Amino acid sequence: MLKASKRSQDVSYAIREVILPARALKKQGIDVLHLNIGDPNKYDFDTPQHIKDALYQAAQDGYNGYSPSEGEPELLQAIIQREQKRNAVHYDLSDICVTTGVTEALQILLSASLDPTEELLIPGPTYPQYSLITKVYGAVPVSYRCIEEKNWQPDIDHIRSLLTKKTKGIVLINPNNPTGALYSEKVIKEIIDIAGEHGIPIISDEIYDDLTFDGVQHATASLAKDVPVITFNGFSKVYLMPGWRMGYIMFRHQGELDDIQEAFMRIARSRLCANSVCQHACIHALKGPQDHIKVVNDKLRKRRDLAYKRLNEIPGISTAKPDGAFYIFPKIEQLQEGGWKTDKDFVLDLLQTAHVLTVHGSGFCATYGKDHFRAVILPNEHTLEQAFDKLESFMKKRLHS
Ligand SMILES: Cc1ncc(COP(=O)(O)O)c(C=O)c1O
Repeated sequence: MLKASKRSQDVSYAIREVILPARALKKQGIDVLHLNIGDPNKYDFDTPQHIKDALYQAAQDGYNGYSPSEGEPELLQAIIQREQKRNAVHYDLSDICVTTGVTEALQILLSASLDPTEELLIPGPTYPQYSLITKVYGAVPVSYRCIEEKNWQPDIDHIRSLLTKKTKGIVLINPNNPTGALYSEKVIKEIIDIAGEHGIPIISDEIYDDLTFDGVQHATASLAKDVPVITFNGFSKVYLMPGWRMGYIMFRHQGELDDIQEAFMRIARSRLCANSVCQHACIHALKGPQDHIKVVNDKLRKRRDLAYKRLNEIPGISTAKPDGAFYIFPKIEQLQEGGWKTDKDFVLDLLQTAHVLTVHGSGFCATYGKDHFRAVILPNEHTLEQAFDKLESFMKKRLHS
């Protein structure tokens, strides 16, 4: 048998890993409550109608060929306008590339910028792709602590202490997956200062930017005057179209990133282009009505309030309050007392016993994610109540046996 590459051996993705045992239960006819999927369209959210109509119309109008590799100029213009209006940041057409989701943008960027043994500072806990893809390229993901007691804000002193000659960039995810943290302006500015002092760029993942419940999200590029910032954004979350696989990258700098940006565009040309018919619908997503965003946030705020209250009332569980995105990241206070060795044991036991599916925190960071689990706040209130009822009896049973 031919051997798979060494590079591929470490590739595993916690979020999808837990799905296999859940499928086995389903096969036995058992209903599982899914609190694991970061896909709003799997719950009671749908792509706005005018965007669906625009997709059909674009196909009818004949936009079915390849697009330029960096994206359709009209979409690039619409992105430029959004950035100008929302964040007062100016981009040129050549600063942006449309990609197959943020996932492709981050895969291309890390391949264009990281050599083996170089280091990338990533939040702990993080969206797992950042550590995974960094490792695939032989580079080293270095986790900086986010502080649970401060609603998971990044620990500035820790970031400072981790910088070495090999550090190639600092990743911010704001609002954050898996914690739901919304970063304060002060924290973002402090990280910008560190990046400026060390001449390294910030990679800012802002895919959840308009999904906030109490405050507003500050785009890193809007606060960084002369520090290079690479921003990821996309349509999966805010425009409720994750299956369409549409994202983009924006480079903002004064020449420091020329080499990396050129490398990015070379690789982007080699993969031809992002889905062209969807790009035409995305123009309408950005330029058309934005009313759905308030509706989504109002729904999520109620579900966040419910999840925050219920989870903190359950014995052995505590949680910080998320301010954005659609996740909550509770702590399993009494892992040992409950008889679990790890958070993954807890998640699997919860699935097998109570039929509630979450994701183990160590899948998001072995150090700063362990002893936690991630749940989505996307299900309706009835389903959330049911899931928390089941979790509550499960905890009572385990802690008293
Ligand atoms: C922080 C973050 N970045 C990127 C992605 C992937 O986005 P896309 O669907 O655009 O590939 C996700 C998906 O969950 C995410 O949480």
